[in-house]
Formats: sequence, C-alpha cells, structure tokens
Amino acid sequence: MRRRKFLKYCTSVLSSIYAIILAVPALGFLFSTLKRGQQEKETYELAKLNDLEPGVPQRFTIIDRRVDAWTKYPSGPIGSVWISKNEDESITAFSSTCPHLGCVVDYVPGDKVFFCPCHAATFESNGSIVSGPQPRGMDELNASIKTIRGEKWIVVEYEKFETGIAEKVSIN
Ligand code: FES
Repeated sequence: MRRRKFLKYCTSVLSSIYAIILAVPALGFLFSTLKRGQQEKETYELAKLNDLEPGVPQRFTIIDRRVDAWTKYPSGPIGSVWISKNEDESITAFSSTCPHLGCVVDYVPGDKVFFCPCHAATFESNGSIVSGPQPRGMDELNASIKTIRGEKWIVVEYEKFETGIAEKVSIN
C-alpha cells in the first residue's frame, strides 16, 4: 500500500515537472508576441529636408531587420515610403504599399499622380482616390522634421496596414 502511494506521488511530481517543461516555451512565445504588439512604431531618418524638391515626391526604401513568428532575418528592405516636401517646407509621407492588394505604388511626374500598375489604381498627389479598385486612399504615415548634427532630417514612423478594406488598420 505504501509503495503504491509512493509511486502515485512520484507520478504526479513527474507529471508536474513535465507540464512545466512544456509550458515554459509556450509562455515565452505568448509573452514575446504580446510584447511585440505593444512595441512603439519604428522611426527612420530617411532624407535631409534640403535634398527634396518641393512638390516632387521621392521614394525611400526602409531597411531594417525583419522578424516573423519564428525567424529573425538580417537587415534588408522591408518596405518603402513616398515623401513630398510641400512649398511651406512641411512634409507628407505615404506608404508605397497599395491599399488594394499590396503592390508597390509608383509616381507619374507628368500627370502628378500616384499609380499602381497591378490593377490601375490612381491617386491624387495628396493620396486621395482618382480611380481604380482600391478601397481607400494611400496610407499616410506620421512624419516629422528633426535636427540632427545641425541638419534637418525627415523622420518617418513606418507601419504596415491591412489591404483590401476601407478602414486603415495597422498590422505592426
Ligand atoms: S494592388 Fe494596386 S491596384 Fe491592385
């Protein structure tokens, strides 16, 4: 009888240890996912303000480390941004990802419009819709000007958004 009790006790102790061993990585994954969701948006110093011509959007590639659920990749392009300097030296930044299905939006200087070659979505230079299948205008990004070592730099908060829907929903 005593022996049976002892074996029962050993089994429950071993089961508990086994459960803890299984739970630790699962909890680690859960907390890292939650932490990632709370992270602040990444900011990028993309260009000197003086290097942009007013009214002529320029595209800048965002270089960073890419991380998915299981893998960290080395630095590489993760997206791009269209930046316009306005006459009053304020700036406007748009994600170059088409809100229709995610192709890269181009700029047509002759017509002063943004154009997505995949399904012919056309946008005004202020990002609003001209024509095409896109459910919303171009996704504007937060941008500001920061003085770094005496020079004015354009700093953009880069984020990605859901495509194919009318609302602008961040997926960072
Ligand atoms: S992905 Fe741009 S128009 Fe379809």
